[in-house]
Amino acid sequence: MKARFGPAHGLAGEVRAPGDKSISHRAALLGAMAQEPVRIARYLHAADTTATLQAVRALGALVEVRGEEVVVRGTGLREAREPDGTIDVANSGTLLRLLPGWLAAQDGRSFTLDGDDSIRRRPVDRIAEPLRQMGATVQARNGRFPPLVVSGARLRSISYELEVASAQVKSCVLLAALAADGATTVGEPARSRDHTERMLLRAGVGIHRNGRHVTVVNTDELLLNQVKVPGDASSAAFLVAAGVLVPGSRLLIGDVGVNWTRTGFLRILRRMQGIVLGDLEDETGELEADEPVSDLDVAHGALEGTVVDPEEVPLAIDELPLVALLGCFAEGETLVRGAHELRVKESDRIAGVVNGLRGLGADIEATEDGFAVRGTGGLRGGTIESHGDHRLAMMGAVAGLASREGVDVQGIEAAAVSYPGFVDDLAALAAP
Ligand code: S3P
Repeated sequence: MKARFGPAHGLAGEVRAPGDKSISHRAALLGAMAQEPVRIARYLHAADTTATLQAVRALGALVEVRGEEVVVRGTGLREAREPDGTIDVANSGTLLRLLPGWLAAQDGRSFTLDGDDSIRRRPVDRIAEPLRQMGATVQARNGRFPPLVVSGARLRSISYELEVASAQVKSCVLLAALAADGATTVGEPARSRDHTERMLLRAGVGIHRNGRHVTVVNTDELLLNQVKVPGDASSAAFLVAAGVLVPGSRLLIGDVGVNWTRTGFLRILRRMQGIVLGDLEDETGELEADEPVSDLDVAHGALEGTVVDPEEVPLAIDELPLVALLGCFAEGETLVRGAHELRVKESDRIAGVVNGLRGLGADIEATEDGFAVRGTGGLRGGTIESHGDHRLAMMGAVAGLASREGVDVQGIEAAAVSYPGFVDDLAALAAP
């Protein structure tokens, strides 16, 4: 489906970002792993997180949806049911990588996970390796891609160093570790989002962080009761970028999650001189249990180019397409380095961003692990292809509002993966 986003004349008003995708997935999964019911407030009802509810139902959890609230009655840590058929993860890389952590601990039962064409290109060897070390049997197509078959076992605790900073892989090992035979430690080369750690801490699990290492102690049960999902900082980032780029804009985004491990984009934007006010969490020493929230107050203003370094990448991974877009409007050059992971997201986001923005008039080049943009003061407009990737679809829409001639986004429906109300929210903010 194609949609046109014409140049906007100032965005104004207030909008509440949709519920956090990462935290919704985790709440549903931990709810399924718990024995007592878990009430989840402001669950994100989008394609990815609906797939998670379907998956936990197939595994024996009872799920009740009451508007924004979801109640999950789980099976307990070691009691997932073997479903009749394949578990469909749809387009969700997070479900694909996190769920096997729980499944690996289901001794004597086997599970097959598969999804759409994009999922079939997402590497799973990164989770297969630690799960095998823990004692599970894991098979993947060509050793690397879905469909993925996980055969559960009694798990051993391990110490594991991640090769890439990935919250999905870290979370997979942490979930498996809950049912292992001792304490498991995971090390990551750079900090990544820590929602799993915070939720486990709230669920009464013995967990602590020491720099880039997290240790979790095995347990018999999770005691979670309630989860309040904050607004999604990554979804909010698309509104923030629109507010910063469209002249005359001033908007307020309510109740956004501002966990330090998710606000890398806002720090990059501030470095570019973007105007965004909010009570952002500072970098934390100890592991926190809470997910802090803040309103974000955004205004249009001039931008300067910046360099995004490798250790910032995991903290802004889903917003890097927006950094490229901002770079088109900024004074000087904007460079993103160390973002090779973008090549294995829902699409090859380096190729999609570079070709897409170039088609709209940008001066941008791909590098092996990122991109370089020279700001030219704006974008002409044209047509952009989402490649079925929600972040590229939303980037194209924002580009259109800020462009001189407007942008047609081919495949805008992909936005529903994480933010079904996105187009309506933009239209409400753009209304005179
Ligand atoms: C996510 C982690 C990130 C991110 C994805 C959601 C998560 O992936 O890109 O959208 O919920 O843990 P990686 O951890 O693989 O970088």
